[in-house]
Amino acid sequence: MSEKNGRWSLLPAAGNVPASLDGQWRGGSQTDHIDKYLARGGYAAAKRVVSEQSQADVLGLLEKSGLRGLGGGGFPVARKWRAALANEGPRYLVANAYDADPAAPLCRALLETNPHALLEGIVIAAHALGVQEAWVYAKAENSAALRRLRAAVAEAEEQGYLGLSAFGGKLALQVHIFASWGGFAGGEETAALEAIEGQRAMPRQKPPFPTESGLWGRPTVVHSAETLANLPHLAADGAEAFGKGSKLLALGGDVAKPGLVEVPFGTPLRQILTQWGGGPAAGQSPRAVQIGGPTGAVLPESLLDTPLGHDALREVGAFVGSGSLRVLGEKVCMVDFARGRMDYLAHESCGKCVPCRLGTNRLTGVLETIMSGLGRKDDLALLDEFGNLLSQSSLCGFGLTAPTVLRTTMTHFAEDYRVHIEEGRCPTATCRALRTRGFERKAAV
Ligand SMILES: Cc1cc2nc3c(=O)[nH]c(=O)nc-3n(C[C@H](O)[C@H](O)[C@H](O)COP(=O)(O)O)c2cc1C
Repeated sequence: MSEKNGRWSLLPAAGNVPASLDGQWRGGSQTDHIDKYLARGGYAAAKRVVSEQSQADVLGLLEKSGLRGLGGGGFPVARKWRAALANEGPRYLVANAYDADPAAPLCRALLETNPHALLEGIVIAAHALGVQEAWVYAKAENSAALRRLRAAVAEAEEQGYLGLSAFGGKLALQVHIFASWGGFAGGEETAALEAIEGQRAMPRQKPPFPTESGLWGRPTVVHSAETLANLPHLAADGAEAFGKGSKLLALGGDVAKPGLVEVPFGTPLRQILTQWGGGPAAGQSPRAVQIGGPTGAVLPESLLDTPLGHDALREVGAFVGSGSLRVLGEKVCMVDFARGRMDYLAHESCGKCVPCRLGTNRLTGVLETIMSGLGRKDDLALLDEFGNLLSQSSLCGFGLTAPTVLRTTMTHFAEDYRVHIEEGRCPTATCRALRTRGFERKAAV
């Protein structure tokens, strides 16, 4: 979408935006104030939808476009809306702008630079879903994003695009902003609902799904802010022009130009890394990428021709997840990488369910044993067993996906694990204990 002169780009600059946004937007972006947004045709699509289109029209458009949620799982938007509409109102809408993965501050960038795109998307969704109250759920520490969003809500209310009598009285819609402190698990949709209701941000048992029983037991549609911000483009230009749509990604790790980019779905991962990421960082040929954030899959170099897409990624055991695409260079030890991720997840687990609370810790412990040179062959079976337990019995998507990094490194980089365990050696000389202890522990295998 970036090539369309920025009109529909979610981020203001086509191309690569530095990952650290601090100070980047001090001068303002092309669309952060309502006058700039209106000058680019902003709110025209919402106005047309609210004045001329029925619920069925909007649902038909969504179905035709095949739009899927951009919050990680890729659930079809139309199906979620139909599920919510099957339940008696009042219904609520939540825009999830939490950015659980600190390495992928995509919604933060969106709120800092283009908050009206989100608000216009909320208007379109609210009209179709019969919603009169919506919440934007964001991290409290993203103060610039929250400031911009508050200003945007005030501007939209003042100009009659939000409020109890918006669009000349055709729509009554209040948008609340909920700033939450919390960790990775706080981005999960039911944890977001708990937080907005005033509880600790911990996930709920599903079913019932939020479309049936969400905020205060009412049907609630939760979408990523990125998904909602795409609706104005879809409503204005139609399903054909929208095509497969695009995705915000955060490029990081051993890549020449880390940062946030907006990439059309269907682009092969390898092309993303060369065209937007400027290729590998100096002296580092990529060994693998991790896509989807800390719980995402590690894919070897040989799978880099996989196109960016929910189904194509699923076929190789991966998912879009948080939208982070991290390049792992040739010096990365996959056992050490998996341990670092599991350790992070053990810290970030909300602790509500036992499999996730204990499982992430146990997996970290086994990986540490392997890295210390005391690993045994049956540790691999143990990792497998704990991983399965975690993904089969955890309460939410956090625990279900937590073992992915382990599974994918064990599948694609089995040799790394074998060499650690059987030869007492770290192939990239990363694991310090193996560097100093040499082969002396081999007898234990
Ligand atoms: C641990 C965890 C963290 C998540 N964090 C986010 C997040 O920061 N933002 C987001 O939109 N979805 C996040 N999700 C996904 C949400 O639960 C939910 O599926 C999503 O907000 C739905 O939006 P969509 O329909 O637009 O994809 C997270 C899920 C899990 C399991």
